[in-house]
Amino acid sequence: MSQPTAPSQTVGPEYRPATQLPTATVSTSVSRPNVHILAQTPQLIALLTMIRDKDTNRADFIFYSNRIIRLLVEEGLNHLPVVAKEITTPVGHTYAGVKFEGQICGVSIMRAGESMEQGLRDCCRSVRIGKILIQRDEETSKPKLYYDKLPEDIAERWVLLLDPMLATGGSALMAVDVLISRGVPEDHILFLNLIASPEGAKNFAEQFPKVRVVTAFVDQGLDEKNYIIPGLGDFGDRFYTM
Ligand code: URA
Repeated sequence: MSQPTAPSQTVGPEYRPATQLPTATVSTSVSRPNVHILAQTPQLIALLTMIRDKDTNRADFIFYSNRIIRLLVEEGLNHLPVVAKEITTPVGHTYAGVKFEGQICGVSIMRAGESMEQGLRDCCRSVRIGKILIQRDEETSKPKLYYDKLPEDIAERWVLLLDPMLATGGSALMAVDVLISRGVPEDHILFLNLIASPEGAKNFAEQFPKVRVVTAFVDQGLDEKNYIIPGLGDFGDRFYTM
């Protein structure tokens, strides 16, 4: 099947001569100020290569996905506000540092988003986590909210919304609508995502310009079944069942 051309660049440590660096497909750029794509480092590209490979087994898929999820969570946390905090070290000197301001919670879009909960817990001990289930309505073919369980004080928290694949963006858009309807300010939502389609990322970023999207990679497009291409197939199936 023919695919749109993808950007490529040499990947590898700078001390190596350019002639010894392999060329790899890197993320498509998205010209929206609220879309933040992880640096296309050799490590990230190698991790993505593992999870995209159809021959990668489930244990490895989980292991390497978790490593990318960890990178996303760490980068997402960089978008939260901090305030000055001066401390004294054990040798009696002061250090001018910072601490996070405010409280956070995670909200996973079921089922694939639940795969990102552990990565969030690994970085933020005892973090509250809510869930949203959105599925396509058989009659209308539109996304429909089936279930949500969110922290009662969610309006006072920064929300890290979790979904690994942003295809058309229908579920993510509806999830943000739900959060806003519960009083969460739009600019207190961060959407963490592994792979996005260019159309999904643009559509989402335009509809919610104050939500920050942190993604590892923007792919080339969608196929006729709305799978992201080249993508990695069905993330939930590969993480939970295959
Ligand atoms: N969800 C997936 O799991 N994969 C895709 O390619 C698109 C949506």
